[in-house]
Amino acid sequence: MAHVLVIGASQGIGLETVKAALAAGHRVRAFARSAATMSLSGQGLERFPGDALNAADIASALEGIDVVVQALGVPAKNLLGPVTLFSAATNVLVPAMETAGVRRILSVTGFGTGDSRDAIGLLQRIPFRLVFGRAYDDKDAQEMRIRRSGLDWTFVRPGVLTPGSATGRYRILTEPASWRNGLISRADVAHFIAGEIDGRSYERKAVVLIG
Ligand SMILES: NC(=O)c1ccc[n+]([C@@H]2O[C@H](COP(=O)([O-])OP(=O)(O)OC[C@H]3O[C@@H](n4cnc5c(N)ncnc54)[C@H](OP(=O)(O)O)[C@@H]3O)[C@@H](O)[C@H]2O)c1
Repeated sequence: MAHVLVIGASQGIGLETVKAALAAGHRVRAFARSAATMSLSGQGLERFPGDALNAADIASALEGIDVVVQALGVPAKNLLGPVTLFSAATNVLVPAMETAGVRRILSVTGFGTGDSRDAIGLLQRIPFRLVFGRAYDDKDAQEMRIRRSGLDWTFVRPGVLTPGSATGRYRILTEPASWRNGLISRADVAHFIAGEIDGRSYERKAVVLIG
């Protein structure tokens, strides 16, 4: 069983990952600015308030950790302005992991990041760039920073996120020729991540996840 740090743990994929990892028997440190007010509780869970942009917060959160899950997000209302959270937080996290000797990272980015940008359908390309372009440019920088490191990474690139419970029925697309957009629940993304905490089947791979 691993000791897992989930960064961005208070809601969304991060929160679903906390639940799935706890259910799988892992110890979880749940990191978010609002972690102190998380209603989730239970054996193996440590709520850890902190800012992913603060190097001291990240350094102390990494103590005793085996696996990092990076599940940061920005509110939709902030997507039309400049987005720097993903790259800036990663520029803090990667050297901190190297210093702490923590090698394994599962980083949630999204379909359309990095080399999956070319897989966006022609009709979706312009609206996608208009709405998500700034965030995905920053996610590109996030993935590039991690690729340049010596860390054991997996890029988790979900399609369009939906609410709802985990089904375990989703596709894990590893080949660029197979990459395409689709719907997937946050809970199913978390199901994949929880499986990779021990499994390491997709180390140094980018996977597109769709239902
Ligand atoms: N929406 C989609 O269809 C879609 C599709 C593909 C990929 N994605 C990506 O999937 C990821 C997860 O999205 P989501 O909707 O599940 O999550 P989300 O609801 O956006 O949650 C974001 C998490 O990040 C934390 N966070 C933000 N800034 C932080 C900071 N400075 N320090 C520490 N924690 C911080 C938040 O907690 P606090 O505010 O408490 O700090 C929260 O726990 C995002 O990167 C999103 O872009 C989304």
